[in-house]
Amino acid sequence: MDTRPFYITTPIYYVNDIPHIGHAYTCVACDVVARAMRLYGRKVMFLTGTDEHGQKVEKSAQLKGIKPQDFVNEVSQHFRDIAKTMHITNDDFIRTTEPRHSKAAQALWKTMLASGDIYSGSYAGWYAVRDEAFYQESELVNGKAPTGAEVEWVEEPSYFFKLSAWGEKLLAFYEAHPDFISPPARRNEVISFVKGGLKDLSISRTAFSWGIPVPGDEKHIMYVWLDALVNYLSAIDYPDIDSEKFQDFWVKGQSMHVMGKDILRFHAVYWPAFLMAAGLPLPYRIFAHGWWTIEGEKMSKSLGNVISPHDLIAQFGLDQTRYFLLREVPFGNDGNFSREALINRINSELANTIGNLAQRTLSLIAKNNEGRVPTPGNFTLEDKELLEKIQVTHESTHAITQQRYVDCKFGDIFGSIVEAAGKANEYIDKQAPWTLKKTDEARMRTVLYVLAESIRCIAIMLQPVIPHSAGKMLAQTGYSEAEIEAGVAFSELAPEYALKAGSVLPTPQPVFPRYAPPEV
Ligand code: MSP
Repeated sequence: MDTRPFYITTPIYYVNDIPHIGHAYTCVACDVVARAMRLYGRKVMFLTGTDEHGQKVEKSAQLKGIKPQDFVNEVSQHFRDIAKTMHITNDDFIRTTEPRHSKAAQALWKTMLASGDIYSGSYAGWYAVRDEAFYQESELVNGKAPTGAEVEWVEEPSYFFKLSAWGEKLLAFYEAHPDFISPPARRNEVISFVKGGLKDLSISRTAFSWGIPVPGDEKHIMYVWLDALVNYLSAIDYPDIDSEKFQDFWVKGQSMHVMGKDILRFHAVYWPAFLMAAGLPLPYRIFAHGWWTIEGEKMSKSLGNVISPHDLIAQFGLDQTRYFLLREVPFGNDGNFSREALINRINSELANTIGNLAQRTLSLIAKNNEGRVPTPGNFTLEDKELLEKIQVTHESTHAITQQRYVDCKFGDIFGSIVEAAGKANEYIDKQAPWTLKKTDEARMRTVLYVLAESIRCIAIMLQPVIPHSAGKMLAQTGYSEAEIEAGVAFSELAPEYALKAGSVLPTPQPVFPRYAPPEV
């Protein structure tokens, strides 16, 4: 099992938009991985934040008739709020307008200048403000960027990064680190893009001023993508490369950037090239997830179908929303958001399988064993089978499940937990403790013990994705508030931590009510 420090990041969000489920998606995914790694006992740093410079943000501020700094102060708060509402456990929140960030960006610039990777020239070409990206004439489709964004012609003095010099080295790196870009289909896309030949990249602008000044030439501000990518280093103390954070999370640890497929090129091509040029180590992994469509349509303001995470949470519940986002679609694929799919998923897996198991078992214990953990007799083959099934769901060494988290195989992880809960439901039906109560009370106690222990383990496993409900289940199996707050370590899945017969359990409470649509 990997015990190295673990660093995980979301993209930093442009503050011209208000948070929607696309933003929430990466935050929840990273949160689940971060929480899991903490439960494995690893030292974790989880970073999110806001991307506050560039022409797009400057224009949004102008439209509102306020200064960019006032504008970003106001809108960055929406992203902090949504992180809080979704119980995201980020350890830091970086804003690119913070002094620690501009210091890091300028230091990286100077290092790349000193290594001979930056030269000055002039740029003439297409620029899409919406994407904050330069495009070649050959890339345009019907006069627009391939993403559909409007482009404008830009001619200005500019500094360039010698990206063309890094193609071979990037390809050699991808070859030597086959897991660097995930999922594999995305990796192939990046490789063919690099094989197609890289052009030098314009990395400064002079047409506007909302950005970080280029050191030594303040008429220029840094290209917003160079500025933004450095956030991953500014939050871990760069340029102080001797700091504990930098050493732990960038040098000795395992680091991972998660983002949508639309911005993979920036992360998998430009960012590693900048890092190589500065002589810095590269992250362990770049993971690109897919995009959500809404009831079959692209999500857009003009279609008026933008989904706010606040609304989903208010209607369906926080854990339900978190669970659905990660369970419904294999991470990496595009997915379609539909209310019907959400309701089916939460009713069948959370309410009928997990909630029902907890509710039935714990109320039987409350009624028939005075609310105490029952004393088991000898385990039968069926008892052992169920307990083993639960154990293999999170393998005894946890190494396989840990890797599944790093691989973002959320569907597999949660699917196998639900399957284990399904087995426990089959077991309860077959053993029928309500009948045993009349025929064989000792056996009933063994059955209820096996079930309560199964619930304890299932709740431990579910903590990363549905922390609030898993906490309720843990409370009902006797964990204290402080233990739940701190997180029950995955090591406590081991049989030596099994429930102690006779300990008092609190009154059972339903964990997952079935969702019933409001009557029209
Ligand atoms: N500021 C840049 C990132 C800089 S990282 C050094 C940016 N910001 S963004 O706010 O436009 O996008 C942030 C993330 O939201 C991206 O990963 C993008 O893929 C994601 N999504 C935006 N719409 C989405 C969906 N409809 N579905 C899933 N994710 C989507 O790009």
